[in-house]
Amino acid sequence: MSSYERYDRTAAHYDATRWAAGHEILLGCLAQAARPLARMRLLDAGCGTGNYARLLVERVARIEAVDLEPAMLARARDKLAEARRAGRIGFHRASVLALPFPDASFDGVMANQMLHHLPGRAGDPFWGWRRALAEFARVLRPGGVLAITTCSHLQLEKGYWYYALIPQAAARLRARYLDLGPLEAELRRLGLTPRGRFVPTDLVLMGEAYFDPRGPLDPSWRAGDSAWALVEEEELARALDTLSRLAAAGGLAEFLRTRDALRPEIGQMTVLYAVR
Ligand SMILES: C[S@@+](CC[C@H](N)C(=O)[O-])C[C@H]1O[C@@H](n2cnc3c(N)ncnc32)[C@H](O)[C@@H]1O
Repeated sequence: MSSYERYDRTAAHYDATRWAAGHEILLGCLAQAARPLARMRLLDAGCGTGNYARLLVERVARIEAVDLEPAMLARARDKLAEARRAGRIGFHRASVLALPFPDASFDGVMANQMLHHLPGRAGDPFWGWRRALAEFARVLRPGGVLAITTCSHLQLEKGYWYYALIPQAAARLRARYLDLGPLEAELRRLGLTPRGRFVPTDLVLMGEAYFDPRGPLDPSWRAGDSAWALVEEEELARALDTLSRLAAAGGLAEFLRTRDALRPEIGQMTVLYAVR
């Protein structure tokens, strides 16, 4: 189970603000696999509510969608009921730390915004990342592609306007992310060859909702970013108080604009891919 975000509760609100940001880039990466997309067996690792699978399911031969949280999987199942009946997708309640699939059984693996939820171990905060990446390498066939949607440390520092309200939680979140250089080094160590990084500077993970300066006042808006799950009560109270005071003084729009100044240049997310 995710060690800090309660996806059993978040599931009901997740789709209010989240969408499959960067899915067309992901598709372009997966298309670099030795086997053509139309014949690809694709693993969706940590599929959540199935937003990416929904957009990709008609483009590949079959998806195996894996998630540990039943409430997220249930939503994905509902969303993809027709594709499931057509035999284009299967759902598995399982952990990416121990995938229930044989070696070399996939042509593509995608892991979208999920690796930072994995647990560390004493002395190795990125144990979960290493374990999951090793599992992805194991289940990929030679010539297969691993595509990862993640955030660089710079994007986490300057790409989300509201992190200025919760700097301690934002730092905790950043500490859960392996930055891009070390991530690619780990992929190489596992025998994968990193081939590219793509930053869609015009996309935001929460879609239009991101630009609502009152958003953080609403718990269901906050469910769209797990940084809020790392906020301690006192920090949250301070953040909400700051926002309410800004709102009263008519300064909300300006606050958002200045804290969001770098995001259009650096983006919020990076899609990177590697070939086995
Ligand atoms: C931020 S959500 C991303 C969901 C989806 N990939 C997306 O981008 O919309 C992270 C997902 O990872 C799942 N997760 C966390 N730890 C997991 C694990 N060990 N194995 C499988 N899924 C896990 C959570 O249940 C949650 O659905």
